[in-house]
Amino acid sequence: MSFSDPMFKNNELNNKVIVVTGGGSGLGKSMSEYFLSLGAKVVITSRNMEKLNRAKSELMEKTGGDVFPVACDIRNYDEVENLLSKCIEKFGKVDALLNNAAGNFISPTERLSSNAFDTIIDIVLKGTKNCTLAFGKYWIKEKQKATILNIITTYAWTGSGYVVPSAAAKAGVLAMTRSLAVEWSKYGIRLNAIAPGPFPTEGAWDRLLPGDLKEKFDVSKKVPLRRVGEHQELSNLAAYLLSDYSAYINGEVITIDGGEWLQGAGQFNMLEKVPKEMWDMLEMMIRSKKTK
Ligand code: HXC
Ligand code: NAP
Repeated sequence: MSFSDPMFKNNELNNKVIVVTGGGSGLGKSMSEYFLSLGAKVVITSRNMEKLNRAKSELMEKTGGDVFPVACDIRNYDEVENLLSKCIEKFGKVDALLNNAAGNFISPTERLSSNAFDTIIDIVLKGTKNCTLAFGKYWIKEKQKATILNIITTYAWTGSGYVVPSAAAKAGVLAMTRSLAVEWSKYGIRLNAIAPGPFPTEGAWDRLLPGDLKEKFDVSKKVPLRRVGEHQELSNLAAYLLSDYSAYINGEVITIDGGEWLQGAGQFNMLEKVPKEMWDMLEMMIRSKKTK
């Protein structure tokens, strides 16, 4: 067994209808592929229909599963309501929503126009709100049990310079996850979040590490496990959180980052750089300070 192997193998998501925003690329596409291989029917949505059609062909070829692409800009509530209608028309129900779509780029905050800041907030926070509200209202009206999984980031709670609109928006998504996990549990709606560390994708890497920044900042060095994540590892966690095996997990955020954010947070983690052979001398110096 390897950490990059599929964890479930026996149709654990059989007949579940799962909507994946941003399902035509990157992590959304990888997670969609795994859900399909476990028997789910997957609706992939983003703004670019051509991209979605390409992803549909690829996913169907790989899994033989039922993929339904729908163009939708999640910033517009009307388009999200249209997405929901199309899902119901096609499959008669929706069981789960994976809020994965996002927009982001690095920039000193003072360089951002007001519209640039809004653009990120609108995709990440308002888009997640639009999908959550439209699908939630539907499930409550239909008295249907459902699951929502939100993809956030670890800087949702640490904050981070140079991606401030994204950090603020993801923090809002985390607050919404925890709030609704309590408020909507009476309707049988469960909400959780995943905070991934670095998982290479074109979408994120081209915007967060453009040009030679990729070589300048080797992100795997920021991770105690000294590697980036494999898409299958994230897909395994997402499949579990959308499956009935996780029925008692509600309002949780699960970090999958090889320890990255804690390495940055622990006040003395810089001592990692102290060579092993120096520790005898350091211990002696400390012990010599004993007064009684
Ligand atoms: C400053 C910028 C900018 C930049 C755009 N803008 N890029 N400002 N620096 N690099 C400004 C524009 O000038 C404009 O403001 C406003 O932002 C909107 O730009 P548009 O191009 O009109 O927006 P739109 O077409 O809606 O595209 C949205 C986008 C784009 C976010 C800018 O990059 C996109 O489509 N992204 C989707 C995919 C994505 O970002 N994936 C990465 C997710 S990674 P003005 O004032 O001129 O009108 C992620 C990882 C997190 O979230 C954690 C990793 C560890
Ligand atoms: P990605 O491929 O760029 O994914 C973002 C997706 O969102 C794209 O498919 C994009 O499609 C869609 N999208 C953007 N704006 C949209 C809108 N207005 N309406 C509908 N869809 C929209 O990047 P990724 O790395 O896979 O990111 C996926 C998720 O993981 C994001 O939530 C991101 O914050 C999170 N994450 C990623 C990493 C990482 O290391 N990769 C780390 C932490 C968190 P269109 O452009 O076609 O609309």
